[in-house]
Amino acid sequence: MIRQGVEHTGVESGAGESTPAEGQSYPHTPIFDNGCVRIRRASTDDDAKTVRAIIDEVYVGGGWADPVTSPEYVRSLLDARTRIATATVLLAEHRGRAVGTVTATDGPPWANIARPGELEVRMLGVLPTARRGGVARALMGACEDLARSSGARRIVLSTEREMTAAQALYETLGYTRTPQRDWVINSTTLITYARQLSD
Ligand SMILES: CC(C)(COP(=O)(O)OP(=O)(O)OC[C@H]1O[C@@H](n2cnc3c(N)ncnc32)[C@H](O)[C@@H]1OP(=O)(O)O)[C@@H](O)C(=O)NCCC(=O)NCCS
Repeated sequence: MIRQGVEHTGVESGAGESTPAEGQSYPHTPIFDNGCVRIRRASTDDDAKTVRAIIDEVYVGGGWADPVTSPEYVRSLLDARTRIATATVLLAEHRGRAVGTVTATDGPPWANIARPGELEVRMLGVLPTARRGGVARALMGACEDLARSSGARRIVLSTEREMTAAQALYETLGYTRTPQRDWVINSTTLITYARQLSD
């Protein structure tokens, strides 16, 4: 099981933080920061609202999820609060503005295709106004770090054929297609990718 967010300490960043328990970190401590893109684990109710707003704009606003034809899917996409409690949800800021998110998981209830030793990446999204700035690349890199630190050897994911930007991203990052693991949900074929992690 990958380490879940931390995040249930209720500790806010800033003066007066108490020492986190072993294996945990401060809720707002970045796990990646290159001076432009900053990534941390989502943890608080405010984070859940931010993640929800990003996912809403990217997936519902972008036409990738339809509340009328797929209400359950949209509900689960927007339920960032439950995801934060049951998986690792990352939040990316670009020049101080929250613009992207991804969920990493290795088991129920969020994993669709992960097998033992694999980390599954889901619900990657970057706001249209922040695209092509390296935010998704940084989020995927942070997932890779998470995978390594949890002992996973492979990262797996599903995407839609029409998500061509995502496919370009994954192929740029060295992911390869795993057609034998493609699957269908609600008449939509999800195509799958994997990347073996080196030591
Ligand atoms: C896919 C997505 C997450 C990419 O986010 P992003 O922050 O713009 O991606 P990055 O800037 O980190 O891109 C890294 C590399 O991926 C490739 N890439 C990303 N978007 C691309 C596009 N639209 N066309 C071609 N290549 C693209 C490029 O190689 C890029 O490097 P470069 O900009 O130096 O050429 C974003 O477009 C998005 O949210 N799309 C809608 C939701 C979605 O499809 N999610 C994936 C679900 S599986």
